[in-house]
Amino acid sequence: MTTEQPESDDPQLATESKGADAYRDPSWWYDVRGFFILMGTYQVMIWTHLAFFARNLGNRHLEAAIGSGTFMALTLLTQKIKGGKMPEEIIGIDYAERMLNGAKRLFRNNKKIQLIQADLSNINYPDAYFDSANIAHSFHAFPDPDKVLKELHRVMKPKAELYVDVLLAPRGGSIRKAIATRVNNFCFKKGILARTCDPETTKAQFEANDFSIIDSYIKGNTYHVIARKL
Ligand SMILES: C[S@@+](CC[C@H](N)C(=O)[O-])C[C@H]1O[C@@H](n2cnc3c(N)ncnc32)[C@H](O)[C@@H]1O
Repeated sequence: MTTEQPESDDPQLATESKGADAYRDPSWWYDVRGFFILMGTYQVMIWTHLAFFARNLGNRHLEAAIGSGTFMALTLLTQKIKGGKMPEEIIGIDYAERMLNGAKRLFRNNKKIQLIQADLSNINYPDAYFDSANIAHSFHAFPDPDKVLKELHRVMKPKAELYVDVLLAPRGGSIRKAIATRVNNFCFKKGILARTCDPETTKAQFEANDFSIIDSYIKGNTYHVIARKL
C-alpha cells in the first residue's frame, strides 16, 4: 500500500529530495546557475568561500560532493596562488553521474585526483584514511546528513578537520530575505535543496556525530563550520 503525501504550499514541505536525479542538467549549466544561486541564497562572495575551503587541504584530501569539479578546481587554484601546500592525493565523490562527468573532463590531466561515483553514506575507503575533508555547498542537499557525517567520521583520521558551509534560513533585511527566499524556493522545486538549517541544530548535529566544533561563524546566510574528528 502506498501513502500519498498531502500537497503543501510551502516548497520546503512540498518537495522531497530527488537525490542524484535532481542533478540531470549538464554540468556547465549547473556552474552558471550555481554562481547566481551562490550570490542570491548564500549571499557570500565566491572568493570568501574559496579562501575558507583552501585552508583545509590535507595531504590525503576528500572532497565530499565534488559536483562538476569547478569549485574544487578554483579552490586548488586559490591554494596555488597563496603558495600553500597541495594535497598528494584527492578523492572526489559524488552520486550524480552528469555532475561527475563534468569533473572527469575538468581533471582529465590531473593524476592526483580520483573521481568516484558513490553515495557519501557508503564510502569505499578504509577507516582513518583522510587527513582532511570539505563539503562545499552541499550539506543542505544531503537526503540524510547524519549518515554522511557518520561515514565521513569513519574515513577521517583522528583530529582531521571537516570544513562545511551550511545554508541557513534567509536572514537580514527584507530585500535580502526576499531574494534568498525566492532562490531557495526555486532550488526546493528543482530538488537540489533539501532543507535550510539553523546554527544551533547544525552544531548539535555535528557534535552528536562525534565532531567537535573548533570554530564557526555566520556570513550572509552561510554558517561556516570547522569541525574536528574526536
Ligand atoms: C550544490 S552541488 C555542489 C557541488 C560542488 N561541491 C560545488 O561546490 O560546486 C551538490 C552536490 O551534492 C551531491 N550530493 C548530494 N547528496 C549526496 C550524497 N549523499 N552522496 C554523494 N553526492 C551527493 C549532488 O550530486 C551535487 O553534485
